[in-house]
Amino acid sequence: MTAAASTETAKLSLNGQTIDLPVIIGTEKEKAFEIGKLRDQTGVITMDPGFGNTGSCVSSITFLDGERGVLRYRGIPIEQLAEQATSTETAHLLIYGELPNKRELEQFTQRVSERYALPDGMERFFDAFPKSAHPMAVLSAMITVLSSYYPQLLNPYPTREEMDEIILTLMAKIPTLAAVAYRRSRGLDVVAPRADLGYSANYLNMVFGGPGKKDPDPTIVQAFRQMLILHADHEQNCSTSTVRLVGSSRTNAFSSISSGVSALWGPLHGGANQAVIEMLESIQKGGGDSKKYIAMAKDKTSMFRLMGFGHRVYKNFDPRSRIIKKACDQVLAKLGVKDPLLDIAKQLEEAALKDEYFVTRKLYPNVDFYSGIILRAIGIPTNEFTVIFALGRLPGWLAHWKELVESGQRIGRPRQIYMGPTERPYRPLTQRG
Ligand code: CMC
Repeated sequence: MTAAASTETAKLSLNGQTIDLPVIIGTEKEKAFEIGKLRDQTGVITMDPGFGNTGSCVSSITFLDGERGVLRYRGIPIEQLAEQATSTETAHLLIYGELPNKRELEQFTQRVSERYALPDGMERFFDAFPKSAHPMAVLSAMITVLSSYYPQLLNPYPTREEMDEIILTLMAKIPTLAAVAYRRSRGLDVVAPRADLGYSANYLNMVFGGPGKKDPDPTIVQAFRQMLILHADHEQNCSTSTVRLVGSSRTNAFSSISSGVSALWGPLHGGANQAVIEMLESIQKGGGDSKKYIAMAKDKTSMFRLMGFGHRVYKNFDPRSRIIKKACDQVLAKLGVKDPLLDIAKQLEEAALKDEYFVTRKLYPNVDFYSGIILRAIGIPTNEFTVIFALGRLPGWLAHWKELVESGQRIGRPRQIYMGPTERPYRPLTQRG
């Protein structure tokens, strides 16, 4: 790992006792007090529900500076990757630490694409889901089902070769699972994966292609590729932390990633892209007046939040949302689509950015605010949006799972301060009023 143990220490005084806490300094000069021995030394733990101020690991995958709106994968700015890289290159960069050279890229691409097909017999599982099943429920469940076909990849302490095989298998088969689920849920025939198409084009073809259909439109492929890259990693967010925590029990990668999919589904996380479009649609149905929604979001007696706004870490702007907002205009123009929801979104953003409530709380549009408009424009149904986020985040999850397993980090097990009743006796049923 790249974090340096420094000579700096922090002093903590409690009840007349002073202890030194070592300070860890990252390569971007971020600092952390190391409190691992605090309870042994003082009997006291730290408290940080929601982990707003708690580092769970050192990591060399993604750097994020929320104050400056910086996001880099393995040091490379997201703007450059979104503009120039392919999703496969980006996946290789995240998982293995470096952009691949030509030979490595060809090899990685080939090794992924030759694993696209699902195991024989697996397709029948899809027919067991009711038509009402949410695609994220199906995806999470089917990743677990996939594990039952690969008992040889469930080793809690995988070798280097096994780890590669796990990564290739999941990178290859999860898009296929998602596409088969899409087709089956609509009673459509499954479209076989094609190794001659790129990663994004192959997925789009499995979803929308079939006999007599043209290969996916390059504008759509390009927009989809960018969505995958922008969502590929975001350091210790809820789903990635879930992948790491679940993985720390040394369960296998299939169950860790399946748990990540479940965490991502929530509307405060990846599910926000679906929630944003639903919100914009209800504004549209109500005559386009966004003021009511801004008022609702500010009303502390309501649970409503402006979907696609705010971020735990970004406090000035989300660099991904800037790229997506620009891409939105370009993609819609190229495809000749006029989406009234884009106008509503822009008005809502403008109104919120002038509103004192949002300004003082530093609430800006996040990656999900405009992503749904692109996904709509390229024909993805609203309840599939979070699946696309999951496909994008997959390389990040795999990179973190790999880093965790290789680091040998011990099992994650937070503590708590108990606030329930103190000891009291059991009362038999006959004595309870
Ligand atoms: N609408 C209205 N108020 C908000 C919003 C919002 N979207 N987001 C935060 N606030 C308020 C919050 O009520 C609190 O107010 P107060 O200080 O008066 O109590 C203040 O801003 C600070 O918010 P917080 O709850 O401490 O923020 P958090 O870091 O816990 O939550 C968040 C971050 C993203 C969950 C939250 O901003 C939110 O719920 N946003 C809407 C859902 C969303 O768009 N999620 C996608 C996140 S980006 C993609 C991803 O990572 O998955």
